[in-house]
Parts: sequence; structure tokens; C-alpha cells
Amino acid sequence: MILDGKQTSIELQNKMAIEVQNRKEKGLKIPHLAAVLVGKDGASQTYVNAKVKACEQIGFQSTLIHLPKETTENELLAQIETLNQDENIDGFIVQLPLPAHINVDKVFQQVKPEKDVDGFHPINVGRMVKNLPAYISATPLGILMLLEKYNIETAGKKCVVLGRSQIVGLPMSILLARNTKIGNCTVTLCHSKTSDVKKHTLDADIIVVALGIPEYLKDDMIKNGAVVIDVGITRIDDLSKKSGFKLLGDVDYQNVAPKCSAITPVPGGVGPMTITALLYNTLLACKKEIYL
Ligand code: GUN
Repeated sequence: MILDGKQTSIELQNKMAIEVQNRKEKGLKIPHLAAVLVGKDGASQTYVNAKVKACEQIGFQSTLIHLPKETTENELLAQIETLNQDENIDGFIVQLPLPAHINVDKVFQQVKPEKDVDGFHPINVGRMVKNLPAYISATPLGILMLLEKYNIETAGKKCVVLGRSQIVGLPMSILLARNTKIGNCTVTLCHSKTSDVKKHTLDADIIVVALGIPEYLKDDMIKNGAVVIDVGITRIDDLSKKSGFKLLGDVDYQNVAPKCSAITPVPGGVGPMTITALLYNTLLACKKEIYL
């Protein structure tokens, strides 16, 4: 079974569009997302544009703030403070990666937790860990939504997460272990110092791959019937494409897919779900449902 993130996103976004329309008719506030992009990284520009476009499609307001790559840390912090205080903005994101001269932790600590729809602020991470209402980082949340949509059983399953990034692997491992509807897995988090990754993946019922290494997960690393979630999205030069590149996931899809009970494609799997989860968080922010 293919876990179709594109189709699932269309369905969930249609629901949100109806809710926005209802809010409009009742004279309630329309969700407003702002995105800050520093510099000209091609992939980041594409992602931010996709987020802004998705906002427009479902009736949200959106604001894109594009700063030059020379922007200083203090200038960025000042921009964040402006957004923190702008009552018209319900939530905002600072697109990663940031230029090397900017301290990412400092930046995310500046974001008001109530507007932190990316769920990167330590307060939201802490609330997530404690199973309190929190903004949950968009990619892991999108994956949970996809697992729910396809009724993938998680309770009691052995789950291996590959990669311990702050924005995907680490939160994913915590979320899948929590005592929640989509959760209750026995989670193993593998990383660059793990001695025998294959030993772990071969035993896993569910594998989430978030390494950024194209086609890392091979068919001889998984058992029959595994559920495979591919978070990777790497641009590889391909002159036969109009864009000049193709996108590769972290899974050797062609060989792995036949062994799986369910798998996400790249593109059209986790990527669209990340955007949908961000829109969902923005709607929550507008309704003030996390921080009452
Ligand atoms: N870069 C890659 N993924 C993300 C994300 O979910 N949010 C932000 N802000 N930047 C990213």
C-alpha cells in the first residue's frame, strides 16, 4: 500500500478550507502565517513558496519575509520580535537551514511559544515530551496524521527511527513512544554512532528514515511487511528534467517497496504532509487552542 501524502493532504486541506470559510462567514479571524527566509537556498525557497501557496489555496493569509543572506543574528532576532508582537500574525516559521553565522537555538528561543507553529521552541518540545498541549514539529506531526489516515497500527509495534535531528528524528522517536492514539511503539533511535543499524531495521515493524542520505535503506535491511516512512528529499542533478534535478528519498524505493506492507513515496509522501501539518498548527494558533 502506498501512503499517499499528496491525496491525504488534499483531503485534510479541503477540511481546513471549509473551516476557514465558516470562520469568515461568522466574522472570525482568518489564520495568518508568516514565513521568514534568510538567503537564497534553492530548496528552501521552493519549500517556503509551497507553504505560502498552500495558505492561499485554503484561504489563510500569508506573509513571506525574505531577508538577505548577510542579515545579522540581531537583525533576525529583531524581525522575530516584530512578528511576536504583530497581533495580525497567528503563527510564523523561520525556514531552516539558516546561514552559518546565525545561532539556530537563539533564534528559536526568541519565537513566542504561542506563535511557534513549527514547534521548535524548547517550551513546545518540553510540552510535547510531557504529553501536554503543544505545537508539534510539522514533519513528525504530518507523519502521525498519515499513519492515522491509513489506520496503521502502532501500539505495541517495534519502531526504528533513523536519524536524531532536532526537527524530525528526535521528536518522531518521542511521539511514537508516547501513550497516545498514534504511539505506544517500542522505539529504537539509530544515529551515526549506532554500531549495527541493519540488526535494528531487520527487526522493525515500522521504520522512519530521516537521514538525508539518498537511497540509504535497502531491501536487505527490512523484514517482509514492514511499514516504511521516507523523510529524505535530496536534489540530484538530472538534465533530463525541466528543473534540472530529480528528488531522491532516503529509501531505495524500487527494491524496498515490494517488501513493504506500506510505504511513502518521494515526492508525494511526507513532503506534502509537512505543509498540511504546518497549516493545521496555524489554524490551532488562530483558534488559540494550544495555549488557552
Ligand atoms: N527545513 C526543513 N524542514 C523544515 C521545517 O519543518 N520547518 C522549517 N522552518 N524549516 C525546515
